Amino acid sequence: MDYVHRTKKTDDLSAVAHAVAYIASKATHSPRIGIVLGSGLGEVGNQLEQVVSLPYATIPRFPLSTVDGHDGQWLMGTWHGVPVILMKGRFHLYEGYDAQTVTFPMRVMRALGVETLIQTNAAGAIQTDFRVGDLMVITDHLNATGRNPLTGPNDASWGLRFPDLSQAYSPRLRQIAHAVASIVGISLREGVYAGVLGPSFETPAEIRMLRHWGADAVGMSTVMETIAARHAGMEVLGISCMSNMAAGILDQPLTHEEVMETGERIKPLLTALVAGIVQRL
Ligand code: HPA
Repeated sequence: MDYVHRTKKTDDLSAVAHAVAYIASKATHSPRIGIVLGSGLGEVGNQLEQVVSLPYATIPRFPLSTVDGHDGQWLMGTWHGVPVILMKGRFHLYEGYDAQTVTFPMRVMRALGVETLIQTNAAGAIQTDFRVGDLMVITDHLNATGRNPLTGPNDASWGLRFPDLSQAYSPRLRQIAHAVASIVGISLREGVYAGVLGPSFETPAEIRMLRHWGADAVGMSTVMETIAARHAGMEVLGISCMSNMAAGILDQPLTHEEVMETGERIKPLLTALVAGIVQRL
């Protein structure tokens, strides 16, 4: 097994090419849709058919997941007849990965021919009209991480040095999400997602600041992936599950358990929503 070449910087073309060659050798379809599922929101994996499942640890140059007992999996299969890539487990800045490593899988997806990235995540609701369990289509983001996956030399074969982010989250895909939500009977919110570094939850003062900045929800993922995907010309859809009210809104502490519990509860709705969207792409 030749998995020893795990360099810290994984954004170079040879690392991507390595991972792509291996994954392509195992693939039975050519997926055009990549899906990344957030905390407590997994399970779609069980619905895939004709699945090829590759543990991250077996993919050359792929980062390793640091979350205990969660060796991530790269799944390829069909979902309601549509060929997809499904990432079970994503990489977060708070785990200590740099932004290039967090977004390595997006580069691999792109090189495999993926054109659409669908991301889900768990988020804290900043907008006080929102309720725990609400789903929100991301209209735009605030990058409050202080990081960017595109720092360093730009490889023009990936994208522009200064990519436009004025429509980071595809209006077309957002419209499809709303259409599916009304068919499935889900009320779908819309709003701005603030991406923060974590892993500590925010202070109430930070939440007031983020609200002032225009954020409706806050979370510790998604933003790096969106930037890298847009850089490489992919269309992006993001859906946040309000797993808790953000710090200081309610008179109670925030816990990871609450985040996971809400995810569990909302999983069937979110799965139905994403399934409907995938079938319309
Ligand atoms: N803050 C940051 N990230 C989160 C939260 C939160 O309140 N809930 C789920 N992910």
